[in-house]
Formats: sequence, structure tokens, C-alpha cells
Amino acid sequence: MTPPSAIAARLRAAGCVFAEDEARLLSSAARTPHELAAMVDRRVRGLPLEHILGWAEFYGLRVQVDPGVFVPRRRTEYLVSQALAVCRPGAVVVDLCCGSGAVGAALVSAAPQVALYATDIDPAAVACARRNLSAHPGRVFEGDLLDALPAALRGRIDVLVANAPYVPTGAIERMPPEARLHEARVALDGGADGLDVQRRLAAAAPAWLAPGGHLLVETSRAQAGHTMAVFAHNGLTPRVAHCDGLDATVVISSRRAPRSRERELPQGAHRGR
Ligand SMILES: C[S@@+](CC[C@H](N)C(=O)[O-])C[C@H]1O[C@@H](n2cnc3c(N)ncnc32)[C@H](O)[C@@H]1O
Repeated sequence: MTPPSAIAARLRAAGCVFAEDEARLLSSAARTPHELAAMVDRRVRGLPLEHILGWAEFYGLRVQVDPGVFVPRRRTEYLVSQALAVCRPGAVVVDLCCGSGAVGAALVSAAPQVALYATDIDPAAVACARRNLSAHPGRVFEGDLLDALPAALRGRIDVLVANAPYVPTGAIERMPPEARLHEARVALDGGADGLDVQRRLAAAAPAWLAPGGHLLVETSRAQAGHTMAVFAHNGLTPRVAHCDGLDATVVISSRRAPRSRERELPQGAHRGR
């Protein structure tokens, strides 16, 4: 086997910032010297480390990541922690635009008593998420945003979490080649201003959220004000949370719960005096 120090030198020369860590991970993943050499070659050619290893570390879990599927980012752990802060035992939780299912897997690992569902439009992502969420058979759906979910969940979702694509189309070419060339375009492209998917989600979400339910989306610090405006425009009450350490921004919107008097009255009933 090539010593890890020689592998690290090659990876460093190819621009890998964490060359020593990567050399150690590749060395322990390869079963033969030939396999190790092939893995290092792929990394030097620019494939994401996680696609070569077949897994990413996320929220203390080892999440399987298939070729082409979005590699979960450490900053998204903040989305998980914000979602956990509003989760109650027994909550109906949806990981929308789930990719590998990393967010959902992290949520159920920390809050096993929630009822988790996940959806994505990309069949490769759905297949990957089904493996990462194999303890929740039949709960990972393929399709466009909320349309993929069983109609029975309409009005019943307590926590709707989405790391939907939010990169403006024009900014994709400035992303690192690992993302730009090896992650599906549908996982990155948020349209001209990055908010296209969020706009569609904001329009659909109120009908799916339970009264008092929460919708949490990852966004960027620069886009947060626009993301909040999109959700406010659709009758939700948004606030922003930011974590400097992870450079992570989450907009948390809630659907107002009816006041107790409103709840007592049948729909359309006259209040009178
Ligand atoms: C930024 S990735 C996030 C993946 C995962 N949530 C994570 O954080 O690792 C966005 C995901 O949204 C999915 N997606 C894009 N448009 C979608 C749509 N209209 N309906 C459902 N999923 C969509 C992509 O396939 C991709 O897996």
C-alpha cells in the first residue's frame, strides 16, 4: 500500500485542503492497493470525496451518498438543530427535498418518536434516501415538492424541513467543480434569484401545515430577507436564525394556531356579541 503521507502529498498538490484527513479515509476504505490507487486517481480528478467513499459524515451519522446525489453539508446540521427545537414527541415531520435523506436521518436519530416522511424529485436521491431511512419503509416518496406526499398528510404536518435548492442560476458557475460537475443540477439551481423553489413551497405549504406547524428552510445570509418576505406573503410568520460557526442561515415560519375561541366555532359561524 502507498503510505498515507505520499497520498496526502498527491492530494495536496491537486488542491485538497484536508489532504491528510482524506488520505487516511481513503486508505482505510480501500481493500487493495489497486483499489486505493483508483480512489486517489478519482479524487485527484475532482470527484467529491464522499462520492468516492460512498458516505458522508452528518450530524454524527454516516450517511450513504450515491454518485450525483447532493453531498450533505455540515452547515445543514444547523437546520436539523432548529427543527429539533420545534419538534414535539409524536410530531409529523417531513424532510422535503431530502436528497440522501441526511436531514431526516439526523432528525429521527435525535427524536426517534417523531413520524418521519421524506420526498425528493430525483430518483437517484430517492433510492439513496430509502436506504438511509430504511427504518421507515414506505415513507420516502418521489415527486415534486409536497405533491409527492400522501393526501392524508394535508393539514397535519407539524414540522416541514427543506434544504431546497437556493443557488441563483448565475452563481452555479462560481461553485467549486466538485459541486458544479458532480452534483445534480436540480439539487443546486434555485432559478434567477435562487428563490424559485422556495416561492412554490411557500405557496403550497400553508395547506399542508398543521395549525401551529413550522416550516424551516435553509437559505443564505444574503437571501434571508427575501426568503422571509416570500413566506410572509403566503400568510406565514417568519423569523431568521443564523449560526456564524457553520455560516448557516435558516428561516423558520409558523402557521398561526387558531385562538381557542376560533377553534370552538364551526367554519363560517357568525361570532355575534
Ligand atoms: C440542496 S439539495 C439538499 C438535499 C438534502 N436535503 C441535504 O441537505 O443534503 C436539494 C434537493 O432538492 C431536490 N429537489 C429539487 N427540486 C425539487 C422539487 N421540485 N421537488 C422535490 N425535490 C426537489 C433535489 O433533487 C436535491 O436532492
